[in-house]
Amino acid sequence: MVNEAIILIQDLHKTLENKKVLDGVNLSISEGETRVIVGQSGEGKSVLLKHIIGLMIPDKGSIWVDGIKVDPFDERAIARVRERTGIVFQHSALFDSLTVRENVAFALINKHKLSNKEIDRIVAEKLALVNLSGVEEMMPSELSGGMKKRVAIARALATEPKIVLFDEPTTGLDPLTAENINDLIVELKEKLSVTQVVVTHDIHSSCKIADNISMLKGGKIIATASVDEMMKNPDPFIHEFMTISMTHIKDRDSDGEIVSQERA
Ligand SMILES: Nc1ncnc2c1ncn2[C@@H]1O[C@H](COP(=O)(O)OP(=O)(O)OP(=O)(O)O)[C@@H](O)[C@H]1O
Ligand SMILES: [Mg+2]
Repeated sequence: MVNEAIILIQDLHKTLENKKVLDGVNLSISEGETRVIVGQSGEGKSVLLKHIIGLMIPDKGSIWVDGIKVDPFDERAIARVRERTGIVFQHSALFDSLTVRENVAFALINKHKLSNKEIDRIVAEKLALVNLSGVEEMMPSELSGGMKKRVAIARALATEPKIVLFDEPTTGLDPLTAENINDLIVELKEKLSVTQVVVTHDIHSSCKIADNISMLKGGKIIATASVDEMMKNPDPFIHEFMTISMTHIKDRDSDGEIVSQERA
């Protein structure tokens, strides 16, 4: 279901170490949408995500999440925003000394008075959602990169958020594992009807999962459009950014075999 804005960002500015990272970002994301935010490394994609959940303080501008004004100085507002928002950090960021069960249950243990049995049920349910059942007692060091990413996604889903933010979900994964994570993101949208915001510089991934793509450049969102419209954008930078990565896409046939390695 796609309707009014569940995330609204107006004129957001942020300077870090004398560098103007965000220079008037405006963004409106509809409920139920999967929005991909693309941009080159260092353009401020992670900084933008951190502002959405109140982890960074804007110099200027405002952010609303599900009708709540994100004010880092208002603890209750931030708690309400975080209740509604799960985040999958760049590099998964699992707690190395905790089991998978403890990682997935982390937000539940801190926020809700649930019995161990109830926590076990929720952890098993979220691991099943990310197609990774039965690994509760494993440690992060025993997991592959793709499994870690799935556990990080299960952890983000534990409190049943309306919004899930993903920071570079496929970076650092081999192409087939990355493809499986893309499939999972599409599957979660269908199963849970959540709003997803995915930050990436992986254009192939963007094309697979996005309802709409926004491009961050020079501290501003310079374009927002569907995948097809973005591909046809005449702006030379956007055209190059969107198409240059596409020449390296690997197509697979129905048996999963790579059938071509070049596509314009
Ligand atoms: N906590 C911080 N303190 C100072 N500078 C920061 C901080 N976080 C980010 N920056 C700077 O802000 C800029 C944007 O960083 P950010 O991590 O958001 O980029 P990005 O678009 O996510 O890049 P990547 O694709 O490599 O993840 C960079 O110049 C970075 O060095
Ligand atoms: Mg980043």
